[in-house]
Amino acid sequence: MPIDQKYIEAIKAGDIVAFPTETVYGLGADAWNPDAIQKVFTVKGRPSDNPLIVHVSRPDQVYDFVRDVPDKALKLIEAFWPGPFTIIFKKNPEVLDAVTAGLDTVAIRMPDHPLAVDFISQTGPLVAPSANKSGKPSPTKAGHVIEDFGNSVLVIDGGATNIGLESTVFDLTDIQPAILRPGSISRKQVEDVLHEKVAESFFHHLKTPRSPGQKYSHYKPKAEVQWLSGTPDPLNKEVLYLLLTPEISGPNVITYNGKLDLLAKELYDRFRQADHDGYRYIAIEPFDDLTDHPVVPALLNRIEKALS
Ligand code: TXA
Ligand code: MG
Repeated sequence: MPIDQKYIEAIKAGDIVAFPTETVYGLGADAWNPDAIQKVFTVKGRPSDNPLIVHVSRPDQVYDFVRDVPDKALKLIEAFWPGPFTIIFKKNPEVLDAVTAGLDTVAIRMPDHPLAVDFISQTGPLVAPSANKSGKPSPTKAGHVIEDFGNSVLVIDGGATNIGLESTVFDLTDIQPAILRPGSISRKQVEDVLHEKVAESFFHHLKTPRSPGQKYSHYKPKAEVQWLSGTPDPLNKEVLYLLLTPEISGPNVITYNGKLDLLAKELYDRFRQADHDGYRYIAIEPFDDLTDHPVVPALLNRIEKALS
């Protein structure tokens, strides 16, 4: 299906348009239009010191934003683009302060979603934070975007996103390369490409976060998120159970059969659902024994931030 021209015209006219990516829906604006970018901050209620990710439709568009692309970045682009992998570069002087929140670095990724790539190839590079109101979980369905913004934002509906958690953010600008936000591309996958150790710098106790987004509080559903201890009780209507082992069933029990990527894909949707349905608790079965799965650090990170 070709993209309706009204979405492309909206971006060209300086408006914002939500679109699907493989991770979560993004709220897109022309990366070279400061007024459009200001709208993104206003509509989201986003703190002005939290920079945005530039989304490109071709790897060579990086050179519009970055003068010197290090060899390591070229290897990572080759390995992970298009895909859920954001790279932080030293920016060139033309990049708008509105994009980078005044930092001397810029975050860029090429999404792995046919609608996103088609859209951006017709609009040019777009900044796109997750298309949720600040303080809400990232949207994984077009309906989530409408829930947060009503009809004030145009949405390209691409169905549910595949990965469901935001991209890995990787910083190459420091002496010590580091993952600033875990995503479905794991530290081990990055180390295998670079043949060197990379650091992880996404713990909330860090005094001076390398990524401004780390200091903002994360979404907690109204229901208390807890790790399951003991046996689930399908008759307890106050608890929504997210289980990995399919032992019991019930209207308040969702079983993932060990499929951590499916839990990742649905997590934010379940959080929103629990709020709608008025659950008091969300009990998630621990998955310490499944730690080989690459999505584990990202999933743990999002669940731990939601814990009560
Ligand atoms: O999967 C994703 O990355 C989604 C989709 C739409 O692409 N986008 C997304 O954007 O999650 P957002 O704005 O919700 O999160 C971007 C994160 C924030 O934590 C921000 O602080 C960090 O990336 N970031 C952006 N530019 C940065 C920079 N120059 N240096 C350090 N961190 C940066
Ligand atoms: Mg976000």
